[in-house]
Amino acid sequence: MRSTISMERDMLPALTMVAALAAMALAASTSTTDRIYVTSENVASEEGMRGLYERWYTLYRHDSDPIDKEKRFAIFKAEARALYELNEGGTRVKHHLNWFADMTQDEFSESFANCAPLKIRPHREIKLNLHQPSQNYPDKLPLIVDWRTVDGVLTSVKLQGECGSCWAMAAAGAMESIHFLENNKRTNLSVQELVDCSPPKEHCKGGRADMAFQYVIDKHGIHSSEQYPYVGNGSHCTTPSGAPVMSISKFYYVQRYDENMLMDAVAHAPVVVRFRGSNTTEFKRYSGGIFRGLCDIDTKQRHEALLVGYGTTPSDDANDPGIKYWLVKNSWGESWGERGYMRLQRGHLAHGGLCGILRRPVYPAHPR
Ligand SMILES: *[C@@H]1O[C@H](CO)[C@@H](O)[C@H](O)[C@H]1NC(C)=O
Ligand SMILES: *[C@@H]1O[C@H](CO)[C@@H](O)[C@H](O)[C@H]1NC(C)=O
Ligand SMILES: *[C@@H]1O[C@H](CO)[C@@H](O)[C@H](O)[C@H]1NC(C)=O
Repeated sequence: MRSTISMERDMLPALTMVAALAAMALAASTSTTDRIYVTSENVASEEGMRGLYERWYTLYRHDSDPIDKEKRFAIFKAEARALYELNEGGTRVKHHLNWFADMTQDEFSESFANCAPLKIRPHREIKLNLHQPSQNYPDKLPLIVDWRTVDGVLTSVKLQGECGSCWAMAAAGAMESIHFLENNKRTNLSVQELVDCSPPKEHCKGGRADMAFQYVIDKHGIHSSEQYPYVGNGSHCTTPSGAPVMSISKFYYVQRYDENMLMDAVAHAPVVVRFRGSNTTEFKRYSGGIFRGLCDIDTKQRHEALLVGYGTTPSDDANDPGIKYWLVKNSWGESWGERGYMRLQRGHLAHGGLCGILRRPVYPAHPR
Protein backbone atom coordinates (compact mmCIF):
# COMPACT_ATOMS: atom_id res chain seq x y z
CA MET A 1 0.00 0.00 0.00
CA ARG A 2 2.83 2.40 0.74
CA SER A 3 4.79 3.73 -2.20
CA THR A 4 8.54 3.60 -2.05
CA ILE A 5 9.60 7.10 -2.84
CA SER A 6 12.88 7.68 -1.10
CA MET A 7 13.44 11.19 -0.03
CA GLU A 8 16.45 13.36 0.60
CA ARG A 9 16.05 16.44 2.65
CA ASP A 10 16.72 18.80 -0.25
CA MET A 11 14.00 17.10 -2.26
CA LEU A 12 11.32 18.56 -0.05
CA PRO A 13 10.04 21.19 -2.52
CA ALA A 14 9.56 18.57 -5.25
CA LEU A 15 7.88 16.26 -2.86
CA THR A 16 4.31 17.38 -3.06
CA MET A 17 4.18 16.83 -6.81
CA VAL A 18 5.26 13.23 -6.40
CA ALA A 19 2.88 12.90 -3.49
CA ALA A 20 0.04 14.10 -5.69
CA LEU A 21 0.50 11.29 -8.20
CA ALA A 22 1.05 8.67 -5.57
CA ALA A 23 -2.05 9.78 -3.68
CA MET A 24 -4.26 8.91 -6.61
CA ALA A 25 -2.74 5.46 -6.93
CA LEU A 26 -3.13 4.93 -3.20
CA ALA A 27 -6.79 5.91 -3.17
CA ALA A 28 -7.51 3.47 -5.98
CA SER A 29 -5.65 0.58 -4.40
CA THR A 30 -7.18 0.60 -0.92
CA SER A 31 -8.00 -3.03 -0.32
CA THR A 32 -11.16 -4.00 1.50
CA THR A 33 -10.62 -7.74 1.72
CA ASP A 34 -10.35 -7.97 5.49
CA ARG A 35 -13.44 -5.92 6.20
CA ILE A 36 -16.51 -7.60 7.63
CA TYR A 37 -19.81 -6.55 6.08
CA VAL A 38 -23.28 -7.56 7.26
CA THR A 39 -25.24 -9.66 4.76
CA SER A 40 -28.95 -10.44 4.52
CA GLU A 41 -28.16 -14.02 5.67
CA ASN A 42 -26.57 -12.60 8.79
CA VAL A 43 -29.60 -10.56 9.78
CA ALA A 44 -32.10 -13.28 8.82
CA SER A 45 -31.53 -15.47 11.87
CA GLU A 46 -29.96 -15.70 15.30
CA GLU A 47 -27.46 -18.27 13.99
CA GLY A 48 -26.55 -15.90 11.18
CA MET A 49 -25.80 -13.18 13.70
CA ARG A 50 -23.93 -15.60 15.93
CA GLY A 51 -21.70 -16.68 13.06
CA LEU A 52 -21.00 -13.07 12.19
CA TYR A 53 -20.17 -12.25 15.81
CA GLU A 54 -17.74 -15.17 16.07
CA ARG A 55 -15.97 -14.07 12.90
CA TRP A 56 -15.74 -10.52 14.10
CA TYR A 57 -14.71 -11.57 17.62
CA THR A 58 -11.80 -13.65 16.38
CA LEU A 59 -10.48 -10.63 14.55
CA TYR A 60 -10.99 -7.91 17.15
CA ARG A 61 -11.29 -9.41 20.63
CA HIS A 62 -8.71 -11.73 22.02
CA ASP A 63 -9.78 -11.73 25.63
CA SER A 64 -12.65 -14.10 26.13
CA ASP A 65 -14.57 -13.38 29.27
CA PRO A 66 -17.67 -15.48 28.40
CA ILE A 67 -20.07 -13.35 30.42
CA ASP A 68 -18.91 -10.13 28.85
CA LYS A 69 -18.96 -11.77 25.45
CA GLU A 70 -22.61 -12.75 25.82
CA LYS A 71 -23.58 -9.34 27.13
CA ARG A 72 -21.88 -7.69 24.20
CA PHE A 73 -23.54 -9.94 21.66
CA ALA A 74 -26.75 -7.94 22.15
CA ILE A 75 -24.93 -4.66 21.48
CA PHE A 76 -23.22 -6.19 18.47
CA LYS A 77 -26.48 -7.45 16.98
CA ALA A 78 -28.07 -4.02 17.22
CA GLU A 79 -25.05 -2.41 15.57
CA ALA A 80 -24.90 -5.03 12.81
CA ARG A 81 -28.59 -4.55 12.07
CA ALA A 82 -28.18 -0.76 12.01
CA LEU A 83 -25.26 -0.96 9.57
CA TYR A 84 -27.17 -3.40 7.39
CA GLU A 85 -30.13 -1.03 7.18
CA LEU A 86 -27.88 1.95 6.46
CA ASN A 87 -26.25 0.10 3.60
CA GLU A 88 -29.59 -1.10 2.26
CA GLY A 89 -30.77 2.50 2.34
CA GLY A 90 -28.05 3.30 -0.17
CA THR A 91 -25.22 5.20 1.45
CA ARG A 92 -22.29 6.48 -0.60
CA VAL A 93 -19.89 4.14 1.13
CA LYS A 94 -20.77 0.68 2.44
CA HIS A 95 -20.29 0.50 6.19
CA HIS A 96 -18.33 -2.36 7.69
CA LEU A 97 -18.10 -3.64 11.24
CA ASN A 98 -15.14 -1.99 12.92
CA TRP A 99 -13.44 -2.35 16.30
CA PHE A 100 -16.28 -0.44 18.01
CA ALA A 101 -19.05 -2.82 16.92
CA ASP A 102 -19.71 -4.27 20.40
CA MET A 103 -19.36 -1.01 22.34
CA THR A 104 -22.23 1.19 23.39
CA GLN A 105 -22.35 4.76 22.15
CA ASP A 106 -21.58 5.95 25.68
CA GLU A 107 -18.50 3.77 26.01
CA PHE A 108 -17.21 4.99 22.68
CA SER A 109 -18.04 8.56 23.56
CA GLU A 110 -16.21 8.48 26.90
CA SER A 111 -13.06 6.57 25.98
CA PHE A 112 -12.46 7.56 22.40
CA ALA A 113 -14.11 10.85 21.59
CA ASN A 114 -13.31 12.57 24.86
CA CYS A 115 -9.57 12.15 25.25
CA ALA A 116 -8.72 15.84 25.15
CA PRO A 117 -11.53 17.19 27.35
CA LEU A 118 -12.26 20.86 27.45
CA LYS A 119 -11.59 21.04 31.18
CA ILE A 120 -7.90 20.37 30.60
CA ARG A 121 -6.01 23.63 30.57
CA PRO A 122 -2.27 24.27 30.54
CA HIS A 123 -0.89 24.51 34.07
CA ARG A 124 1.22 27.43 33.02
CA GLU A 125 1.41 29.94 30.22
CA ILE A 126 2.32 28.26 26.93
CA LYS A 127 4.39 30.33 24.54
CA LEU A 128 2.38 31.22 21.47
CA ASN A 129 4.66 30.74 18.47
CA LEU A 130 2.67 31.15 15.28
CA HIS A 131 3.30 29.26 12.05
CA GLN A 132 5.11 31.51 9.58
CA PRO A 133 3.70 31.11 6.08
CA SER A 134 5.93 29.78 3.31
CA GLN A 135 6.44 31.47 -0.06
CA ASN A 136 3.60 29.31 -1.38
CA TYR A 137 1.02 30.92 0.85
CA PRO A 138 -1.69 31.64 -0.16
CA ASP A 139 -1.78 31.23 -3.96
CA LYS A 140 0.81 28.58 -4.79
CA LEU A 141 -0.09 25.85 -2.32
CA PRO A 142 0.32 22.29 -3.63
CA LEU A 143 -2.95 20.76 -4.83
CA ILE A 144 -2.45 17.51 -2.96
CA VAL A 145 -0.35 16.54 0.04
CA ASP A 146 -0.33 12.96 1.35
CA TRP A 147 2.44 12.12 3.80
CA ARG A 148 1.54 8.41 3.61
CA THR A 149 3.16 8.33 0.20
CA VAL A 150 6.55 9.44 1.49
CA ASP A 151 7.94 6.28 2.97
CA GLY A 152 9.16 6.68 6.53
CA VAL A 153 7.37 9.88 7.55
CA LEU A 154 4.46 8.10 9.23
CA THR A 155 4.58 5.02 11.41
CA SER A 156 1.79 2.43 11.52
CA VAL A 157 -1.73 3.34 12.61
CA LYS A 158 -2.10 2.64 16.34
CA LEU A 159 -5.04 1.55 18.47
CA GLN A 160 -5.30 3.55 21.66
CA GLY A 161 -7.62 1.00 23.27
CA GLU A 162 -9.80 2.08 26.14
CA CYS A 163 -7.40 4.79 27.20
CA GLY A 164 -7.94 8.46 26.40
CA SER A 165 -4.51 8.78 24.83
CA CYS A 166 -5.40 10.25 21.43
CA TRP A 167 -3.50 13.46 22.29
CA ALA A 168 -0.34 11.44 23.05
CA MET A 169 -0.78 9.32 19.91
CA ALA A 170 -1.18 12.46 17.80
CA ALA A 171 1.75 14.25 19.47
CA ALA A 172 3.99 11.18 19.06
CA GLY A 173 2.95 10.90 15.41
CA ALA A 174 3.88 14.51 14.74
CA MET A 175 7.28 14.09 16.41
CA GLU A 176 7.87 10.83 14.53
CA SER A 177 7.47 12.76 11.27
CA ILE A 178 9.90 15.44 12.37
CA HIS A 179 12.35 12.75 13.46
CA PHE A 180 12.23 11.18 10.01
CA LEU A 181 12.36 14.43 8.05
CA GLU A 182 15.32 15.71 10.08
CA ASN A 183 17.22 12.58 11.07
CA ASN A 184 15.99 10.12 8.47
CA LYS A 185 14.97 7.65 11.19
CA ARG A 186 11.63 5.93 11.38
CA THR A 187 10.85 5.18 15.02
CA ASN A 188 7.70 4.61 17.05
CA LEU A 189 7.98 7.13 19.87
CA SER A 190 6.70 6.35 23.34
CA VAL A 191 3.05 7.23 23.70
CA GLN A 192 3.12 5.65 27.16
CA GLU A 193 5.82 8.05 28.34
CA LEU A 194 3.51 10.94 27.46
CA VAL A 195 0.48 9.25 29.05
CA ASP A 196 2.37 8.58 32.29
CA CYS A 197 4.54 11.67 32.59
CA SER A 198 3.19 14.62 30.61
CA PRO A 199 1.10 17.26 32.36
CA PRO A 200 -1.78 17.41 33.16
CA LYS A 201 -1.01 13.90 34.47
CA GLU A 202 -4.55 12.76 34.06
CA HIS A 203 -3.13 9.77 32.18
CA CYS A 204 -5.89 7.91 30.31
CA LYS A 205 -8.45 10.54 31.24
CA GLY A 206 -7.02 12.80 28.57
CA GLY A 207 -4.46 15.45 27.74
CA ARG A 208 -3.34 17.80 25.02
CA ALA A 209 -0.71 17.55 22.31
CA ASP A 210 0.65 21.05 22.96
CA MET A 211 1.25 20.15 26.61
CA ALA A 212 2.95 16.94 25.49
CA PHE A 213 5.26 18.98 23.25
CA GLN A 214 6.09 21.27 26.14
CA TYR A 215 6.85 18.20 28.27
CA VAL A 216 9.29 16.88 25.65
CA ILE A 217 11.02 20.26 25.44
CA ASP A 218 11.33 20.45 29.23
CA LYS A 219 12.64 16.87 29.47
CA HIS A 220 15.03 17.32 26.54
CA GLY A 221 13.57 14.44 24.62
CA ILE A 222 11.28 11.45 24.32
CA HIS A 223 12.09 7.73 24.32
CA SER A 224 11.06 5.13 21.77
CA SER A 225 8.14 2.78 22.29
CA GLU A 226 10.64 -0.05 22.55
CA GLN A 227 12.26 1.65 25.53
CA TYR A 228 8.89 2.54 27.07
CA PRO A 229 6.11 0.33 25.63
CA TYR A 230 2.43 1.11 25.40
CA VAL A 231 0.22 -0.63 27.96
CA GLY A 232 -2.92 1.39 27.34
CA ASN A 233 -3.55 2.47 30.90
CA GLY A 234 -2.08 5.08 33.19
CA SER A 235 0.85 3.93 35.29
CA HIS A 236 3.69 5.57 37.16
CA CYS A 237 6.03 7.78 35.23
CA THR A 238 9.31 5.92 35.01
CA THR A 239 12.61 6.84 33.43
CA PRO A 240 13.67 4.12 31.04
CA SER A 241 17.32 3.27 30.67
CA GLY A 242 18.96 4.71 27.60
CA ALA A 243 18.92 8.17 26.12
CA PRO A 244 15.84 9.72 24.54
CA VAL A 245 15.77 9.12 20.78
CA MET A 246 14.82 12.61 19.68
CA SER A 247 13.84 16.01 20.93
CA ILE A 248 12.06 19.14 19.79
CA SER A 249 12.81 22.76 20.50
CA LYS A 250 9.50 24.51 19.91
CA PHE A 251 6.00 24.08 18.69
CA TYR A 252 3.87 26.31 16.52
CA TYR A 253 0.17 27.02 16.46
CA VAL A 254 -1.39 27.59 13.08
CA GLN A 255 -3.45 30.75 12.72
CA ARG A 256 -7.03 29.86 13.61
CA TYR A 257 -9.81 29.59 11.04
CA ASP A 258 -7.37 29.93 8.15
CA GLU A 259 -7.62 26.91 5.83
CA ASN A 260 -4.87 28.08 3.52
CA MET A 261 -2.51 28.55 6.44
CA LEU A 262 -3.29 25.04 7.66
CA MET A 263 -2.65 23.67 4.15
CA ASP A 264 0.64 25.55 4.12
CA ALA A 265 1.61 24.05 7.48
CA VAL A 266 0.64 20.48 6.60
CA ALA A 267 2.56 20.71 3.30
CA HIS A 268 5.60 21.30 5.50
CA ALA A 269 4.91 18.50 8.06
CA PRO A 270 1.96 16.76 9.77
CA VAL A 271 -0.05 18.87 12.22
CA VAL A 272 -2.13 17.90 15.27
CA VAL A 273 -5.77 18.98 15.04
CA ARG A 274 -8.52 18.90 17.61
CA PHE A 275 -12.04 17.65 16.92
CA ARG A 276 -15.18 18.85 18.64
CA GLY A 277 -17.95 16.38 19.32
CA SER A 278 -16.59 13.42 17.37
CA ASN A 279 -18.74 11.24 19.64
CA THR A 280 -21.46 10.76 17.03
CA THR A 281 -22.49 7.43 15.51
CA GLU A 282 -21.53 8.79 12.08
CA PHE A 283 -17.98 9.39 13.26
CA LYS A 284 -17.78 6.05 15.07
CA ARG A 285 -19.05 4.13 12.04
CA TYR A 286 -17.04 6.03 9.43
CA SER A 287 -16.05 3.44 6.85
CA GLY A 288 -14.50 5.51 4.08
CA GLY A 289 -15.21 8.23 1.54
CA ILE A 290 -15.40 11.89 2.43
CA PHE A 291 -16.75 12.44 5.93
CA ARG A 292 -19.30 15.27 5.89
CA GLY A 293 -20.57 14.98 9.45
CA LEU A 294 -22.06 14.78 11.91
CA CYS A 295 -19.90 16.24 14.64
CA ASP A 296 -21.78 17.34 17.71
CA ILE A 297 -19.88 20.64 17.89
CA ASP A 298 -21.66 22.15 20.86
CA THR A 299 -20.47 19.44 23.24
CA LYS A 300 -17.44 19.51 25.48
CA GLN A 301 -16.09 16.34 23.87
CA ARG A 302 -12.65 16.78 22.33
CA HIS A 303 -10.51 14.41 20.33
CA GLU A 304 -7.07 14.94 18.80
CA ALA A 305 -5.53 13.33 15.73
CA LEU A 306 -2.84 13.96 13.15
CA LEU A 307 -3.50 15.86 9.94
CA VAL A 308 -1.29 14.27 7.27
CA GLY A 309 -2.47 15.88 4.08
CA TYR A 310 -5.25 17.29 1.99
CA GLY A 311 -6.55 17.06 -1.55
CA THR A 312 -9.55 17.04 -3.87
CA THR A 313 -11.23 13.91 -5.21
CA PRO A 314 -10.94 13.45 -9.00
CA SER A 315 -13.87 14.96 -10.92
CA ASP A 316 -14.72 11.56 -12.41
CA ASP A 317 -15.08 9.90 -9.00
CA ALA A 318 -18.61 8.54 -9.22
CA ASN A 319 -19.26 8.76 -5.50
CA ASP A 320 -17.57 12.01 -4.58
CA PRO A 321 -16.59 14.14 -7.58
CA GLY A 322 -14.38 17.13 -6.91
CA ILE A 323 -14.74 17.19 -3.13
CA LYS A 324 -12.04 18.95 -1.14
CA TYR A 325 -10.84 17.01 1.88
CA TRP A 326 -8.36 16.88 4.73
CA LEU A 327 -6.52 13.62 5.40
CA VAL A 328 -6.39 12.52 9.04
CA LYS A 329 -4.39 9.74 10.72
CA ASN A 330 -6.40 8.54 13.69
CA SER A 331 -5.46 6.26 16.60
CA TRP A 332 -8.45 3.92 16.48
CA GLY A 333 -6.76 1.02 14.70
CA GLU A 334 -6.90 0.03 11.05
CA SER A 335 -10.46 -1.30 11.14
CA TRP A 336 -11.83 2.23 11.42
CA GLY A 337 -12.28 4.34 8.28
CA GLU A 338 -9.84 3.99 5.41
CA ARG A 339 -7.34 1.68 7.15
CA GLY A 340 -7.24 3.98 10.12
CA TYR A 341 -7.36 7.22 8.13
CA MET A 342 -10.22 9.61 7.47
CA ARG A 343 -10.87 12.01 4.64
CA LEU A 344 -12.84 14.87 6.12
CA GLN A 345 -14.58 17.55 4.10
CA ARG A 346 -12.47 20.68 3.61
CA GLY A 347 -13.79 24.11 2.65
CA HIS A 348 -16.39 23.96 5.38
CA LEU A 349 -15.77 27.24 7.15
CA ALA A 350 -18.65 27.58 9.59
CA HIS A 351 -17.79 26.69 13.20
CA GLY A 352 -14.06 26.69 12.50
CA GLY A 353 -14.10 23.90 9.94
CA LEU A 354 -15.99 20.63 9.98
CA CYS A 355 -15.72 19.26 13.55
CA GLY A 356 -13.90 22.48 14.48
CA ILE A 357 -10.51 21.31 13.25
CA LEU A 358 -9.36 24.82 12.29
CA ARG A 359 -9.47 26.04 15.87
CA ARG A 360 -6.22 24.87 17.39
CA PRO A 361 -3.80 23.19 15.01
CA VAL A 362 -0.30 22.73 16.44
CA TYR A 363 2.95 21.10 15.29
CA PRO A 364 6.41 20.58 16.75
CA ALA A 365 9.73 21.84 15.42
CA HIS A 366 13.09 20.18 15.50
CA PRO A 367 16.08 21.92 17.10
CA ARG A 368 18.53 22.94 14.39
C1 LIG B 1 5.93 0.48 15.08
O1 LIG B 1 5.03 -0.33 15.82
C2 LIG B 1 4.25 -1.23 15.03
C3 LIG B 1 3.28 -1.92 15.95
O2 LIG B 1 2.35 -1.02 16.45
C4 LIG B 1 5.15 -2.19 14.29
O3 LIG B 1 4.39 -3.03 13.47
C5 LIG B 1 6.14 -1.39 13.45
O4 LIG B 1 7.06 -2.28 12.84
C6 LIG B 1 6.90 -0.39 14.30
N1 LIG B 1 7.71 0.44 13.43
C7 LIG B 1 8.99 0.71 13.68
C8 LIG B 1 9.66 1.58 12.68
O5 LIG B 1 9.57 0.27 14.63
C1 LIG C 1 -1.94 -1.66 33.04
O1 LIG C 1 -1.64 -2.63 32.06
C2 LIG C 1 -0.60 -3.52 32.44
C3 LIG C 1 -0.26 -4.39 31.25
O2 LIG C 1 -1.40 -4.86 30.61
C4 LIG C 1 -1.03 -4.30 33.68
O3 LIG C 1 0.03 -5.14 34.09
C5 LIG C 1 -1.39 -3.33 34.79
O4 LIG C 1 -1.90 -4.03 35.89
C6 LIG C 1 -2.41 -2.31 34.32
N1 LIG C 1 -2.60 -1.31 35.37
C7 LIG C 1 -3.80 -0.86 35.71
C8 LIG C 1 -3.82 0.21 36.75
O5 LIG C 1 -4.84 -1.28 35.23
C1 LIG D 1 -21.70 13.54 22.92
O1 LIG D 1 -21.32 13.98 24.21
C2 LIG D 1 -22.21 14.89 24.82
C3 LIG D 1 -21.62 15.26 26.17
O2 LIG D 1 -20.61 16.23 26.03
C4 LIG D 1 -23.59 14.29 24.96
O3 LIG D 1 -24.48 15.26 25.47
C5 LIG D 1 -24.07 13.82 23.60
O4 LIG D 1 -25.29 13.15 23.74
C6 LIG D 1 -23.05 12.87 22.99
N1 LIG D 1 -23.50 12.51 21.64
C7 LIG D 1 -23.62 11.23 21.26
C8 LIG D 1 -24.12 11.01 19.89
O5 LIG D 1 -23.31 10.29 21.98
